Amino acid sequence: LDNGLAQTPPMGWMSWERFRCVTDCKDDPANCISENLYMTMADKMVSDGYLDAGYEYVNIDDCWMTKTRDENGRLQADRERFPSGIKALADYASILSILVHSKGLKLGIYEDFGTGTCEDYPGSKFYMDIDADTFAGWGVDMLKFDGCNSGISDMPVGYPLMEMWLNKTGRPILYSCSWPAYFVVEGKIPEYEKIAESCNIWRNYYDIQDSWASLKTIIEFYGDDVGNFSKVAGPGNFNDPDMLIIGNYGLSYEQQRVQMALWAIMASPLLMSNDLRDIADASREILLNKNVIAINQDRLGIQGSRIFKMNDFEIWTRPIEPTGSVAFSFLNLADSGTPVKANISTSGLELDMHAVYNVTEGFSGSVVGTLTNGTFFTVGVNPSGVFLGKATKIA
Ligand code: DGJ
Repeated sequence: LDNGLAQTPPMGWMSWERFRCVTDCKDDPANCISENLYMTMADKMVSDGYLDAGYEYVNIDDCWMTKTRDENGRLQADRERFPSGIKALADYASILSILVHSKGLKLGIYEDFGTGTCEDYPGSKFYMDIDADTFAGWGVDMLKFDGCNSGISDMPVGYPLMEMWLNKTGRPILYSCSWPAYFVVEGKIPEYEKIAESCNIWRNYYDIQDSWASLKTIIEFYGDDVGNFSKVAGPGNFNDPDMLIIGNYGLSYEQQRVQMALWAIMASPLLMSNDLRDIADASREILLNKNVIAINQDRLGIQGSRIFKMNDFEIWTRPIEPTGSVAFSFLNLADSGTPVKANISTSGLELDMHAVYNVTEGFSGSVVGTLTNGTFFTVGVNPSGVFLGKATKIA
């Protein structure tokens, strides 16, 4: 979507995967969906370096509303869980940024295209214009527009309609669509070019869950790239393979590195869904890794692809700046206990055999060596692990 936003994949935090739809704040005050949760996460994003690293959106997901609209048809936040209201949350995010002289923390919100959200709160059907106006009035910066309780045949018309209403508000609002995900779930190939025209980012597969199994199916969907969705990614429009689950319960250290490396190669939005109050140092370091974030945020905005697959071993590459360079991942999906050996070579990475490359390891930035046609470097790739690298063209 050409609205000036998401020139690189958006980065932030989103409540859904980790905090779901817990609404009983008496029973679980620290974890229920409430203004308190989002304010606490905003504080942590600022104090623990996430905002400085580029994570700027704090995103509310489902279950923030009252079960009915007000007498004017407007959405309202649950009064007990959000006593100050959504506008106050948006203001909190901007004030916090001013206080720490940092770039702006932004607020994202969630609604649904159908008659109700997936958790049965009021949907936007018949209210899109009012809802767009409400969100803009509150100072919201991003909208995740889900697709429960609707039909996919309405989506190619309805999602662009919401794009129009958002545009009419005059407020830049990053537009995240779940439209293609609902097509894929019904076994249909979405019209990705059309989607990219109307949405800044879009979910195109099942929800991520807190497990290696879930992560692997998403990576395979992106590797298979049915419908060539990788090709429509670029500045302003990115495929969204769903939230980062790094720092939660389900992934080993190696598997967390896999998610970060692959999300960098796939030019994916980096939307963490974790508990920033309680996160292992090792996970935090992965999330804040400057070198990997730089690959993710590469200005060309080209989505990487899987160029090789044999059994459990895959090679992924992503063209990055300076022109002719690539970031690459050797991915070992096997769980047999010893690292596999793999060679870094110009032919294996489908690079220009007449050029010279400086190869570095992607997380640490440490130099691997100078690569030319005929030379190679052997590296180990850990079980359910990744070797992330960068081949920068130097001649
Ligand atoms: C389905 C979406 O794909 C999830 O990310 C989440 O937003 C839930 N709906 C909320 O109900």
